[in-house]
Amino acid sequence: MNENRPVSSDAGVEDLKSRGETAIAKGIRSLFTENADRFAAFSVRHDDLLLDFSKTALSRDDLAALLAFAGTAQVEARRDAMFAGARINATEGRSVLHVALRGRPEDGYTADGETVGDEVESVLAAMSRFANGIRNGAIRGATGETITDIVNIGIGGSDLGPVMATIALSPYHDGPRAHFVSNIDGAHMADTLARVDPATTLFVVASKTFTTIETMTNAQTARRFVAAALGEDAVGAHFCAVSTALDKVDAFGIGADRTFGFWDWVGGRYSVWSAIGLPLMIAIGPDRFREFLAGARDMDRHFAQAPIEQNLPMLLGLVGWWHRVAQGHPTRAVIPYDQRLARLPAYLQQLDMESNGKHVGLDGRRVAVTGPVVWGEPGTNGQHAFFQLLHQGTDLIPVEFIVGANAHESDPEMRIHQDLLLANCLAQSEALMKGRTLEEARQQLLDAGRSADEAERIAPHREFSGDRPSLTLLYRLLDPFAFGRLVALYEHRVFVEAQLFGINAFDQWGVELGKELATGLLPVVQGKESAATRDSSTAGLVAAIADMRT
Ligand code: F6P
Repeated sequence: MNENRPVSSDAGVEDLKSRGETAIAKGIRSLFTENADRFAAFSVRHDDLLLDFSKTALSRDDLAALLAFAGTAQVEARRDAMFAGARINATEGRSVLHVALRGRPEDGYTADGETVGDEVESVLAAMSRFANGIRNGAIRGATGETITDIVNIGIGGSDLGPVMATIALSPYHDGPRAHFVSNIDGAHMADTLARVDPATTLFVVASKTFTTIETMTNAQTARRFVAAALGEDAVGAHFCAVSTALDKVDAFGIGADRTFGFWDWVGGRYSVWSAIGLPLMIAIGPDRFREFLAGARDMDRHFAQAPIEQNLPMLLGLVGWWHRVAQGHPTRAVIPYDQRLARLPAYLQQLDMESNGKHVGLDGRRVAVTGPVVWGEPGTNGQHAFFQLLHQGTDLIPVEFIVGANAHESDPEMRIHQDLLLANCLAQSEALMKGRTLEEARQQLLDAGRSADEAERIAPHREFSGDRPSLTLLYRLLDPFAFGRLVALYEHRVFVEAQLFGINAFDQWGVELGKELATGLLPVVQGKESAATRDSSTAGLVAAIADMRT
């Protein structure tokens, strides 16, 4: 495998950029006119998960060029290296093996030549025993009461995955209530503590490093909350921990029997499948959690084995790269038409932007363009907020619609909700693609009885350019298997795009500077050190804070 493979400045990229520009000029509607069955050629189905990317400006030739570019960028070879446990996280010298967390023994995953399946299974078994104990009341609080609430204390990858998944799988939630505290803002912890009883609450301190300032500060506050209500001796019965830093957990005072480990070959934003998923497991039970893992494994196998032109993560990654690099769109909207995926956009922001927001390639060279800004909110709410700009704004923003054919709420009275949800989702992608011509807008106004003058004046405001790209992911029902498969699809998509950008998706040096400066600014904010050496903005703000605090 060639580490110095082509990056964004190479000839293949330039050809694709020129194709991207031509495609924007040609539009999407005309492609549907030319090929009445475009859907058949530009959609791929893996069991009951369908990707429709026909409403993009890709021609057959463009797609062929993209697939060839994936070959040049050695995406399949890099994928195979990841699955084989190679240290593809080159800047940190680590393997990248989150796929092993959902593997089966026969998958034979290894890191540094050692099989990892047994360790993974042993932690899963320990988590399951603990989760079952909490759920069935065998493990209780210090006063002997059963646990009714769990509070996960973590941030970034130690929060976003579990919180997203717990909401997504709420129809399967039959364990204690789950709460999540991430922000250093004391309001987050205070509001949560106000809702729970210390005698019936379990705190899960989740931190890969067990040094993250937000998590450690929040954990100490929770510890004081328990100790104040129940006494210092009660603390142990109300805490457990998830970390790779077992010595630091021990120093915090959480017992080994309540500590669930994972490994440095699991990146924080890829860790929901590990013990970081403990709150989800307690909420839905170990069996459902295993179904979630099985869904992800299904996608892993598909990614590893399906031919590239039928491979969902490959295609999703290639289309994403096409929009970002070949067509130059700086953002992409992810719009789940599924209220229970409300936190998916936030989760994807970390997964995608912390992975692919990099300016230096694996070969040490500057990279011209990497990941887009990822953002979104559930539909239909977004329709009544920012869709105006998606349809008529001056930027083209590719949209990713995500929707289930079925809802859990399937009784006849609720059926209308799902029908309307689906109709709206389809309508939005159709409207983005088709638009409405000036002539159509004018005629509509005349048909509605407006005068010719009025129709002339108002029609431009009611014109929609159309030719705005979107893709749609459709699944049968958001059950644990389908949800695991969807999340793994996005993980692998981010991987594919990283290979096309030529960057390492698995480090995150870009978060360090702010952390270092915050450490230095704490004594300044506290008035223990002068702000005189800071820039005038920072110094001015420090002075204003001091003024407003008196
Ligand atoms: O600040 C970024 C980050 O390192 C993420 O990558 C990570 O998910 C998060 O902080 C939390 O880290 P930890 O699990 O070590 O507390």
